[in-house]
Amino acid sequence: MGSSKLSLLLLAPFLLLAAVPLVAGDELSTFIVHVHPREGRVLATAEDRNAWYRSFLPDDGRLVHAYHHVASGFAARMTRRELDALSAMPGFVSAVPDQTYELHTTHTPQFLRLESLDAKRTYPSHERGAGVIIGMLDSGIVPSHPSFSDHGMPPPPARWKGRCDFNGRRVCNNKLVGARSFITSPNATRSNSSSSELRVSPVDDEGHGTHTASTAAGAVVAGAQVLGQGKGVAATGIAPRAHVAMYKVCTETSCADSDILAGVDAAVGDGCDIISMSLGGDSKPFYEDSIAIATLGAVEKGVFVTISAGNSGPDASSVVNEAPWMLTVAASTMDRSIHSTVRLGNGFFFHGESVYQPSNVSASTLYYPLVYAGGSGKPYAELCGNGSLDGLDVRGKIVLCEAGSEPGILIPRILKGAVVQSAGGAGMILMNKFPHGYTTFADAHVLPASHVDYAAASAIKSYLNSTASPTAQIVFEGTILGDTSPAPSMAFFSSRGPSLQNPGILKPDITGPGVNVLAAWPFQVGPPNVASPPLPGPTFNIISGTSMSAPHLSGVAALIKSKHPDWSPAAIKSAIMTTAEVMDRSGDPILNEQRVPADLFATGAGHVNPEKAGDPGLVYDMAASDYIGYLCGLYDSKNVSVIARRPVDCTAVEVIPGSMLNYPSISVAFTQTWNWSTPAIVERTVRNVGEVPSVVYYAAVDVADDDVTVGVYPRELAFTQVNQELSFRVIVWPRQNGPKVVQGALRWVSDTYTVRSPISISFA
Ligand SMILES: *[C@@H]1O[C@H](CO)[C@@H](O)[C@H](O)[C@H]1NC(C)=O
Ligand SMILES: *[C@@H]1O[C@H](CO)[C@@H](O)[C@H](O)[C@H]1NC(C)=O
Ligand SMILES: *[C@@H]1O[C@H](CO)[C@@H](O)[C@H](O)[C@H]1NC(C)=O
Ligand SMILES: *[C@@H]1O[C@H](CO)[C@@H](O)[C@H](O)[C@H]1NC(C)=O
Ligand SMILES: *[C@@H]1O[C@H](CO)[C@@H](O)[C@H](O)[C@H]1NC(C)=O
Ligand SMILES: *[C@@H]1O[C@H](CO)[C@@H](O)[C@H](O)[C@H]1NC(C)=O
Ligand SMILES: *[C@@H]1O[C@H](CO)[C@@H](O)[C@H](O)[C@H]1NC(C)=O
Repeated sequence: MGSSKLSLLLLAPFLLLAAVPLVAGDELSTFIVHVHPREGRVLATAEDRNAWYRSFLPDDGRLVHAYHHVASGFAARMTRRELDALSAMPGFVSAVPDQTYELHTTHTPQFLRLESLDAKRTYPSHERGAGVIIGMLDSGIVPSHPSFSDHGMPPPPARWKGRCDFNGRRVCNNKLVGARSFITSPNATRSNSSSSELRVSPVDDEGHGTHTASTAAGAVVAGAQVLGQGKGVAATGIAPRAHVAMYKVCTETSCADSDILAGVDAAVGDGCDIISMSLGGDSKPFYEDSIAIATLGAVEKGVFVTISAGNSGPDASSVVNEAPWMLTVAASTMDRSIHSTVRLGNGFFFHGESVYQPSNVSASTLYYPLVYAGGSGKPYAELCGNGSLDGLDVRGKIVLCEAGSEPGILIPRILKGAVVQSAGGAGMILMNKFPHGYTTFADAHVLPASHVDYAAASAIKSYLNSTASPTAQIVFEGTILGDTSPAPSMAFFSSRGPSLQNPGILKPDITGPGVNVLAAWPFQVGPPNVASPPLPGPTFNIISGTSMSAPHLSGVAALIKSKHPDWSPAAIKSAIMTTAEVMDRSGDPILNEQRVPADLFATGAGHVNPEKAGDPGLVYDMAASDYIGYLCGLYDSKNVSVIARRPVDCTAVEVIPGSMLNYPSISVAFTQTWNWSTPAIVERTVRNVGEVPSVVYYAAVDVADDDVTVGVYPRELAFTQVNQELSFRVIVWPRQNGPKVVQGALRWVSDTYTVRSPISISFA
């Protein structure tokens, strides 16, 4: 039986590892069971459904979650033998063992130019996200944090039906409108398992959920800082007028499928407009993927779904959460860095990063001996693994530690510093390996430290070789805004396409800020042994991951939903993707972690531009039913029925190949069996949502390659009405049969708008 791990997609400086138990024949374990009612039978109420679900089970105490909105079925504890019996019962469709997933910002609103005059016209500051409810599926929330103050917030819209489950105390307000938990307390007796009293509290004792929720929709908080760094004008979420609801589905270590499904079910039933998820596991077929199943149910009910792409980059096809009904978000840098500069005894210096910046009054004169334990022969000493420096002479020295871990052993960055400190080291230089390239993190280290890029790491190592007594110092220069290194640029960890599950859909969809993001945190971070008292005021933290970029996009979706309440999830996604930036702030193409131009498998449509996304000119829209035709192109009727949560007969459905879905990006995959004398034809339909009733758009194709010709017919789209729809074809003539990828874009250009779709063409 396959078992995989789901987790929050934070690029953990902390330890996050969970063992996945294997399921034996007589052992009780949790399964998600999909069932379909007999034909003609209507289950009108939640009680009807609960009673029907219980009829499958040997006793009441087995039910863990009953699903009502986005899945037809339940989660229950049972043995393999009981499951075999259950699977013979009428109405049974399929069962999957529960799996666990991993949980995978002051300056960002300015970096996203939400403070610019144009953006203020698009989204007046008193309206940013007004009337929109964002449901966060995460590790919980700390309701008392000032980022969730409801000062000046109106009550949530009347459709809101959510709950606030902080032990009866009235802690929710007009900003944090709801909080529920789907984690069953380890103390609960199973016979009471579906009652909410037996769930752990929705309070966040990890930090992740508080951080993501405040990124998406946190209130304005003056003077946000971490250890004195990062001070922006004020901390604010992307959509500070939006309401937030927390659905706790993750513990400190992992998130279970069955709980995520219950969380999405509740968020949809409660009336959320947007679901934001910063978690994921492995790539798997959609019929085995609870997140894909649940979120299709959400999108069918008009709810927008934002999700992180994963932190497994830069390897190809590492992207997860790939279903076309989700907005899949990659992570990139911004133009702020928190300099912690390494100066070598030979006078060379390198800018690294650390948010812990001890005062450096005497630093300019004092150099420390520099050591690298890699040659000591002790296991993991080059990585500064726990215990690996014991017995080595590092006392009073600056220790070089390689970034990253080895398979099977996770050594978080902050732990490496703690290891150096406990061995008596004076400081740490954390050195990138080649795949990490130029991506560096400003962590809350416990000792003077600097995280340097791979180029600096190579130079430091050759210096070490060149002299008998190498020395170095670490100088702290504080927060630098408008940093000259290219921004945005892709983070090494951001997961890459092409999508394993759907080659006809380009994934990830978009990139947003996900490196060194400052946002709310439940408690003070940093070295416990600093002499100076903790700075007063609200607590924040700077962390990185696609977990951090996804809630930025949830905030942007809230801005658009607030401005255009009648737009479908597909239209909002189109607006975000077709207006994305493909150039960085210096006007050059967005680079990757190696400082070479990033491809579409890293960036998707590009870097989000919230202001333009509010007024895209044209949108590529879709009906939720189109996804069923698309799924019938991938799977058989039985598997499609599981995803659709109702019986689907694919022979009676118009099949839509992936490349023909009306998606805002274009992906064409030529297989080896392609008839090379025929072109690939892609059809799209656009709707005029611009202000001007009559407008002409001209096609421009940016694909420069001798092995392929891309034509667009017609080359002109003349709209005479608002909301008018026009269709066109993109014809791709291959001229060669050999493995390669050609990428570019199609732009529809009017006097006012540019509507850009990335095009990716691959030859098997
Ligand atoms: C479980 O019970 C123990 C002992 O009574 C208690 O300390 C702990 O807080 C409980 N855990 C939860 C999640 O309620
Ligand atoms: C379930 O909970 C109710 C009230 O919370 C309690 O009265 C009942 O005894 C519990 N049942 C079991 C089997 O623990
Ligand atoms: C490091 O190792 C020691 C001894 O093996 C253990 O007690 C400690 O918990 C470990 N620390 C971490 C952070 O893993
Ligand atoms: C440093 O010296 C060691 C051993 O002589 C060698 O393996 C390594 O490649 C050298 N590193 C650099 C960066 O020159
Ligand atoms: C540390 O020293 C450097 C160079 O001497 C100086 O530029 C910087 O402002 C100092 N930083 C702090 C935080 O004092
Ligand atoms: C459908 O699902 C079954 C497992 O239930 C799998 O073995 C089969 O390959 C799937 N079929 C298709 C066409 O995906
Ligand atoms: C390939 O396409 C051409 C043009 O449509 C057609 O004439 C030819 O028969 C096709 N070849 C095969 C092997 O299907």
